[in-house]
Amino acid sequence: MPKELIAVLDFGGQYSHLITRRIRECEVYSELMPFATSAKVLLELGAKGIVLSGGPASVYDHSAPKCDPEIFRQQIPVLGICYGLQLMTQMLGGRVKATNRHEYGKTRLETRDSSDLFRGIPGSIVSWMSHGDFAENLPDQFEIIASSENCPTAAIRDRARHLYGVQFHPEVAHTEYGTEIIRNFVTGICGCSPSWNPHSIIETAVQHIQNEAKDGRVLTAVSGGVDSTTTAVLVQKAIGDRLSCVFVDHGLLRRGEAEAVLEALRGDLKLKVDHVDASKRFLERLKGVRDPEEKRRIIGEEFIRVFEEESRKLGTYQWLAQGTLYPDVIESAGTGSPASRIKSHHNVGGMPEWSRFQIIEPLKLLYKDEVRKIAKELGLPDSIVKTHPFPGPGLAVRVVGELTQEKLRICREASAIVEEVLQKRELYDNLWQAFAVVGDDEAVGVLGDQRKLGHIVTVRIVKSIDGMTADWARIPEDVLEEISSRITGEVDGVTWVSYAITSKPPSTIEPC
Ligand code: XMP
Repeated sequence: MPKELIAVLDFGGQYSHLITRRIRECEVYSELMPFATSAKVLLELGAKGIVLSGGPASVYDHSAPKCDPEIFRQQIPVLGICYGLQLMTQMLGGRVKATNRHEYGKTRLETRDSSDLFRGIPGSIVSWMSHGDFAENLPDQFEIIASSENCPTAAIRDRARHLYGVQFHPEVAHTEYGTEIIRNFVTGICGCSPSWNPHSIIETAVQHIQNEAKDGRVLTAVSGGVDSTTTAVLVQKAIGDRLSCVFVDHGLLRRGEAEAVLEALRGDLKLKVDHVDASKRFLERLKGVRDPEEKRRIIGEEFIRVFEEESRKLGTYQWLAQGTLYPDVIESAGTGSPASRIKSHHNVGGMPEWSRFQIIEPLKLLYKDEVRKIAKELGLPDSIVKTHPFPGPGLAVRVVGELTQEKLRICREASAIVEEVLQKRELYDNLWQAFAVVGDDEAVGVLGDQRKLGHIVTVRIVKSIDGMTADWARIPEDVLEEISSRITGEVDGVTWVSYAITSKPPSTIEPC
């Protein structure tokens, strides 16, 4: 872990991850932690600042989550955001009350002081509010440093104890100068120096891998995606040729993908890659299987078998490197309560508990955009850095119903057209994913003078920040027209093309 840490205590607010991301944008390392993390643990970790996040509770509820009161007595700067401000107010002897008028959305904020939190910020800015309670009476020694029309205590501080609170959300893009306010807290008030950048992230990761692996040998599965490739390149940088990579081709890849991936990994990145063409055995096991979950289970299980068999052939390895990312590691308790717990997902390739390997996860502290940045710094080609996410089970989750050779061919050919057209029109890089889906639905078309029954292909193109939610992309009509006429003209057996116009939720991105 980097030396300077800002701990964000998570009270279950929808923007909690956004706070850590914004702090990291200021080049200061930040982690999201359970709200009950003790002052003792935070001191041991060397936290230079603490942020109390927003959350759905009211501080006067019986079960309202509280932080360790010792946190306020350590002289470590604390910034309470929304619920965090209210909690600080209540725990230190002030009073919180429900407002008559809820403030929600863009709200004008008048600041009164620009000596620390609002340094360099205009006296009147737009802020993002989302609250029903406010601090009516402040604890002793606190003063008001900003107000809005309905919230006189929109920003408060006790300078002597380094305690600050804001009722608005500086982490939300709608707050003008939000990142500057956060930067003022982490670099000005907490005194952190901006040093969390691609170069130092790589250095930290390489050192960590060297300390873990010592003189052991490391194996990793590569897919050509940005996460697994970045993982492999970091491990290679750390331990050189004691790393071996296995590329399992399950026969469910996109058109030309296996060749392009091998070329990039072996040619551009000089990785030692063992290519296993296991497509026959995967397709054999998937025969007759219609249920999406069953397909995923079979593919996951077969992947592990192939990987294990191959690794035994390659020799003795003590370590397995995986490209697990930070959002996979942090998992909320999922009960709607703000209790967070930290859990490791060994999800890449789904290595089971009984696996004989020890695990190295060099990306487990990083968000996807940070991985893309270090991938670029490490010299990964654009074809890998900018490629859309592609699911582990590959085209199997885009062929609805039984996976037949015919449907697989249609899905592969039509997807290639979707990607090609979007690349040509320079739309590809701004989209999260774009592909074709094929199921068993058929429709009548006209070919020459003949009526002919053929497949319906559904084109799915979505925009998303993180894959958790997604919006269907409003693609210009002429681009859709080009995609449609190329698919019906070039892919044998397709008579209709439709466009998926559901977002996530209620749909998911992949159809299976
Ligand atoms: P859904 O379909 O759940 O997908 O909205 C969200 C994101 O996750 C990807 N995805 C997967 N990735 N293995 C993966 O590695 C999987 O089984 C899997 N299922 C979905 C999907 O492509 C999208 O980006």
